[in-house]
Amino acid sequence: MSRVLVLNGPNLGRLGRRQPEIYGHTTHDELASRCVGWGRALGLDVEVRQTNHEGELLDWLNDAADEQCPVALNAAAWSHYSWALYDACAQLTAPLVEVHISDPSQRPEEFRHTSVIAPHAAEVIAGAGIDGYRLALEFLADA
Ligand code: DQA
Repeated sequence: MSRVLVLNGPNLGRLGRRQPEIYGHTTHDELASRCVGWGRALGLDVEVRQTNHEGELLDWLNDAADEQCPVALNAAAWSHYSWALYDACAQLTAPLVEVHISDPSQRPEEFRHTSVIAPHAAEVIAGAGIDGYRLALEFLADA
C-alpha cells in the first residue's frame, strides 16, 4: 500500500469543539480514523498528524520530501502567511493536495484569501467539510 501523510495545522486538534458552525462536529480523532478507513479502501496507508507547532509541521514536510511521500495538507491559519511553509512545500516532489474544511476564499477575513500552499499544490479542495479529506485521498490515489 502506498503511504500518504495527512497533516493538519494549528487549532485543528479542537475540531468538533472549535466553531462547529464553521468546522462541523467531527472531532480530530474521528477525522483521523475516517481518513485511515477511506485510505484503506483506496489502497493507501494513511497516517494523520496534527500540530500546533509550526517547526514540527516543517520537519514533517521535510521528511515527506526525503521520502517522496504524497501529502494532504490543511495548514489552517499558517496557509495564509507562513513563507517557511511556502518553502517547505516548494521542495516536495510527490503530489501535494491543499485541504480546507471551510472555503477560505468565501470567508469575510481578507487574510484568508491568500494561500502560500496553492502555488505548490496539485489540487486544492476547500469548502467540502470533512469530506474534503476523502476527496484529497481519492485525488492522491489516482495521481
Ligand atoms: C481552515 C481555514 C483557515 O482559514 C483557518 O485558519 C483554519 C481552518 C479550514 O480547514 O477551513 O484554521 O484551514
